[in-house]
Amino acid sequence: MCGIVGYVGPGPAAAIIMSGLKRLEYRGYDSAGVAVVTSDDAGSRIALAKRAGKIGNLAGALDAEPMPVDGVGVGHTRWATHGVPNDLNAHPHLSFDGRVAVVHNGIIENHAALRAELGAAGIATVSDTDTEVVAHLLAQELEAGRRLPDAMRAVCNRLDGAFTLVAVDRDDPATVVGARRNSPLVVGIGDGESYLASDVAAFIDHTREAIELGQDQVVEIRAGEVRVTGFDGRPAQTRPYHVDWDTSAAQKDGYDWFMRKEIYEQPKAVADTLLGRYDTDGSLRLDELRISESELRRVNKIIIVACGTAFYSGLVAKYAIEHWTRIACEVELAHEFRYRDPIVDANTLVVCISQSGETADSLMAIRHASEQGARVLAICNTNGSTIPRESDAVIYTHAGPEIGVASTKGFTTQLVACYLLGLYLAQVRGTLFGDEIARLMDELEQMPQTIQGVLDDAEPVLKLAADFAEQPSVLFLGRHVGYPVALEGALKLKELAYIHAEGFAAGELKHGPIALIDQGLPVFVVVPPLGRDMLHDKVVSNIAEIRARGALTVVLAEEDDEAVGPLADVWIRLPKVSTLLQPLAATVPLQLFACELATRKGHDVDQPRNLAKSVTVE
Ligand code: M6R
Repeated sequence: MCGIVGYVGPGPAAAIIMSGLKRLEYRGYDSAGVAVVTSDDAGSRIALAKRAGKIGNLAGALDAEPMPVDGVGVGHTRWATHGVPNDLNAHPHLSFDGRVAVVHNGIIENHAALRAELGAAGIATVSDTDTEVVAHLLAQELEAGRRLPDAMRAVCNRLDGAFTLVAVDRDDPATVVGARRNSPLVVGIGDGESYLASDVAAFIDHTREAIELGQDQVVEIRAGEVRVTGFDGRPAQTRPYHVDWDTSAAQKDGYDWFMRKEIYEQPKAVADTLLGRYDTDGSLRLDELRISESELRRVNKIIIVACGTAFYSGLVAKYAIEHWTRIACEVELAHEFRYRDPIVDANTLVVCISQSGETADSLMAIRHASEQGARVLAICNTNGSTIPRESDAVIYTHAGPEIGVASTKGFTTQLVACYLLGLYLAQVRGTLFGDEIARLMDELEQMPQTIQGVLDDAEPVLKLAADFAEQPSVLFLGRHVGYPVALEGALKLKELAYIHAEGFAAGELKHGPIALIDQGLPVFVVVPPLGRDMLHDKVVSNIAEIRARGALTVVLAEEDDEAVGPLADVWIRLPKVSTLLQPLAATVPLQLFACELATRKGHDVDQPRNLAKSVTVE
């Protein structure tokens, strides 16, 4: 949440920062601002521009009144926590003496006490943000004779909460200083120039060489120079890395939305996640898994923690992992996990699923699990992010950058990673025979073509979205692995189309939700593949029950499932896949439906209201 950019170098700072912010707009789009420190014969000054609304508003203001070309600077795109999204609360915030400009991502939890302390010293705040106090505190430290990096360390040691801060000092026009605790910040190393950003996407046009920052670290960047210390002032270890995607991955490539592009990228994303995992000798290899086979054999419980769409991929994983490995597997919303005193020990494997690797709720859950002695494995799409860094092991999903706020290829590749983990555990523990694993791997390796087939046959779903554009409410039903698919279908519709949408376990319907069924209410039903006859027949009966009560049934079922024909007002035909893998195919039409429906309603699909891509506050 919130995107931050800092730049030092010979280039036009404001323009470079603005293009970086544009790439980070998915992190928040309530307001945006830029501050540039510039010097001329009259001395140094901070030029500042900020505007409520999307970055386009700020760009318009800068066109009307351009910033100085030379200098160093910081920029910010906001997802509001404290204070409504208006010009005043937009970042950067200036200190009382105009010497410091600061941008922030996170929440300063003790801002009220610090504000009171500043007030007692005669320094009044002008905005409603928690951030502004930092600008004043930094200025006080500078006034006392410290340099900005020392001031930053001193101030950070006084802050509670989660924060990435990036600041400039008017009187040091060659330096930008950043700090991070529980919130992301990466360094970009260019040719004679340096960047700070919430995400490498901000500087990918200029460099693919990056440095991960650790927890509680302060970084100073000057042209071509980077220095990292801990909050205690000691030099800190950092990890340089090369970003394995380039600027073309962050373009819409002719699609109207990043989300639609990312839906259509799923065949490739799934293939990339599978790449190199299965040897010609018939054994699975998870190279990044830094947990030994003997440790994996000792695991007697798996707890999956995640939020949102990633949580739903965990719900699917539970069915597969328990079935293939016979290890008990719980799935828990990360924000609930640590507050219930979970039973976790050295034989528990905690699996954290996170596309961004920065979700604060998930990060706090794995920290709690580690403190209790559990081994932690991350399933993550973002190299260099905090969750994999703080985990014992990681399976990267290799989906490429996911920019649309609604997760799509993130979800399907998380499913693939979960299946790989389940099969690997089954291999290590001997709960599946080699030929059983081989058969499932064959089917997984066919999935890119299977998903492509679903995408090629998308026309009926797109038409349905056009027909349903005025529907106020839609329900989704599923059973077994179809249940998380129903939840995911409903979430996509809520976040993009802003309509009432709910997913239910089909068997739960008769325990209450069936009262919602009314004449003409659209209900999507995910039908299990033929072959799991009991499960399949029960869902078919559920369709009959809701149809008898007036529901308009949209049935997602295998192409030759003639049992659903008479019960389906609309039949979305799915390819034949095995039961546990069906979510990989069944989710795709629901993603397209939500994307198209939101488009028809005139919504901003990539930047739905009130949301942000990376939820870095608890
Ligand atoms: O980056 P993460 O996978 O940890 O994000 C988790 C959720 O915030 C995310 O899946 C969210 O629910 C998406 N907006 C869903 O489309």
